[in-house]
Amino acid sequence: MSQTEIPAGLADVPVTKTAISDIDGKNATLFYRGIPVQVLARESSFEETSWLLLKGDLPTQRELANFHFDLRSRRKVHYRLLEALKNFPESGHPMDALQASVAALGLFYPSRNVSDAAANWEASLRIIASMPTLVAAFARLRSGEMPIEPHPDLDHAANFYYMLFGKEPSASVRKVIDACLILHAEHHMNASTFTARVAGSSLANPYQVIAAAVGSLSGPLHGGANEEVLEQLKEIGSPDRVQAWLEQKRASNPSFKVMGLGHRVYKVKDPRATVLQDLAERVFAESTRPILYDVAVELEKACLPIYGPKGVFPNVDFYSGVVYSALKIPTDLFTPIFAIARVSGWLAHWFEQLQNNRIYRPDAPYIGKQNVTYTPLEKRP
Ligand code: COA
Repeated sequence: MSQTEIPAGLADVPVTKTAISDIDGKNATLFYRGIPVQVLARESSFEETSWLLLKGDLPTQRELANFHFDLRSRRKVHYRLLEALKNFPESGHPMDALQASVAALGLFYPSRNVSDAAANWEASLRIIASMPTLVAAFARLRSGEMPIEPHPDLDHAANFYYMLFGKEPSASVRKVIDACLILHAEHHMNASTFTARVAGSSLANPYQVIAAAVGSLSGPLHGGANEEVLEQLKEIGSPDRVQAWLEQKRASNPSFKVMGLGHRVYKVKDPRATVLQDLAERVFAESTRPILYDVAVELEKACLPIYGPKGVFPNVDFYSGVVYSALKIPTDLFTPIFAIARVSGWLAHWFEQLQNNRIYRPDAPYIGKQNVTYTPLEKRP
């Protein structure tokens, strides 16, 4: 294969088959195990959706009750891991803290033999249950506050909010967080999922697999875009400035990109953006409607006639940042929350990879120098 035949970013190159999720970018559909994500966001919970992704089918009532119990009983992390988090620099990015502490979980709860199905399931429960605790603990410790112990009576979404703020969320806030977790739980063969599968293919332990995926998600071309959307909306400031801002940006840079718009697969509005917008409107109806939301709505309208004909529409990040910021969640926790959700998808792909594993070892045609003579150091200028 010549170099020119290799699609940049492996676009459209199949790397494996999967039964976990499916996207139709033309018709704005996303299915988890055959169920539309809109239905799950409306009807399901993050826990139930995680089971669906991991096991392939919706749980029975008993299975779901046991899964809830299993997760809740693994939320606390070892006190020495909290001590380690205390010693991280408070200026450090929470994604770096999350990656390091997920890898460190494997020191406290080792699970090295990936041919042991029971150990793999145990590690998966531990990782899903611990990630909100690790994110919330670091967020508090860096501001000089003590971590809050997990609340045994709250579900995954409400407990995360509780550990962050020390109070329970209202029913509508709980629902919006839960739906955000569901909407971000899985998205086919994206960079971090592929990373998880590649790391898993070497039979690395599950903590290392997830730490690798967290690292991949941290980049601004992947999980980091929602932070940039919020900065953009803040820069615009108010809905009446949208038009002038857009014209000025486009005039000064012909290849200017509106953050939160466009997607490699979706050529219509991302179905997750539509669900998020509906949920956001419900939350805002009960409290103050943030000005940044109005800016986002106005920006979407202004962009439609310009970018719509190119198939460039709002993606999931366009509204998620506004929702999180309205909940007073710090901007640099947006990507860690994405990771708290996506871990279920990563683990589902890890299990799928192990079912029929062969280590990834793709080709890369050599295009470098040939037959170079080694010149001893003393003879080099
Ligand atoms: N703003 C303005 N124009 C955009 C755009 C955006 N956000 N996204 C794509 N376009 C334009 C491209 O410039 C290109 O125009 P051209 O045909 O005149 O050159 C056309 O739409 C097709 O886009 P393309 O470059 O093929 O998209 P891609 O699949 O390579 O890239 C993204 C997809 C997501 C990387 C890209 O849309 C982007 O950078 N979006 C902003 C960042 C973002 O929101 N990322 C989160 C993704 S979930």
